[in-house]
Amino acid sequence: MRHFIIDCDTAEDDIMSLFMLIKNGVSVEGVTIVEGNISYEQEINNALWALEFIGKEIPVFPGSDRPIVKEFRSVPEVHGKGGIGDEIVKPSKLKPQSKKAVDAIVEISDRYPGELEFLAISPLTNLALAYLKDKSIVDKIKKVWVMGGTAWGRGNITPVAEYNIWVDPDAAKIVFNAGFDITMVPWDVIINYPINDKEWEEIKKINTKMAQFYIKIYTHYRQYSMEKEKIGGTPHPDLITTSVALNKNVIAKSEKQTVDIENCDCLTRGMTVIDFLGLWGKKPNVEVVYEINKKEFYSMLTDLLNWF
Ligand code: BDR
Ligand code: CA
Repeated sequence: MRHFIIDCDTAEDDIMSLFMLIKNGVSVEGVTIVEGNISYEQEINNALWALEFIGKEIPVFPGSDRPIVKEFRSVPEVHGKGGIGDEIVKPSKLKPQSKKAVDAIVEISDRYPGELEFLAISPLTNLALAYLKDKSIVDKIKKVWVMGGTAWGRGNITPVAEYNIWVDPDAAKIVFNAGFDITMVPWDVIINYPINDKEWEEIKKINTKMAQFYIKIYTHYRQYSMEKEKIGGTPHPDLITTSVALNKNVIAKSEKQTVDIENCDCLTRGMTVIDFLGLWGKKPNVEVVYEINKKEFYSMLTDLLNWF
């Protein structure tokens, strides 16, 4: 049995990622919430609401509500004010834990040393703070899966930076230099595999509660991505990263490389700098995913949408 913590800034793609983990039978030990896409309170509520929707009680741990150093900026224009387009979910009946995410990460790493996997589909503040609190988590967390950064320097929040890394580049720098076993799925790889018009129409025909929910929560994000970001469909940054974590066949091409983070207050803030030529002479620290097996991902997505 695989054990996961999923770290979310809970918008539509984060919610579906949580569902995908559960559907695939891994043990989700906790959902940790971090500053990101929308208001922090709404992110917590979305996570609780999502668990209520599928009838699962998994602890939700509130984490950091701001980056370690930088000023914070959310992106409600991308995901809608409530993170799921024009809808705003009702207050959930479930309650978050009183324990904070940082303590939960340290405790759960102690409970499953060498087995725990950390799925970061959000800024890396919680993981960085947990590491600063207890550096031994590097040896206890088996794997860190990161949705973030760019492979070739095409960003979304700035011309060269991807949002998750850009929000808290200081946290990302700590995490990327700590010695974790990291696989990174970059934004400019993700956008090559959107759900296109044909697939969107196919999904509309899947008449399950989950598929109807999917169409509802992604409509705004899809329109935004196609109109403003010139992407040929709905991008799935978090969901593709989750499917990469669950199924190695989703990766078509990856390479172990040396990656560092630009954390200056400058034009390139939040850029994931990849030392393609090994000029720094440092040991590679990140498995960078360059190509996705779209068929494999789409089959995992439709499997999820056929769940119920
Ligand atoms: C990432 O940032 C958020 O908008 C998404 O949830 C995803 O994790 C894309 O840059
Ligand atoms: Ca996210």
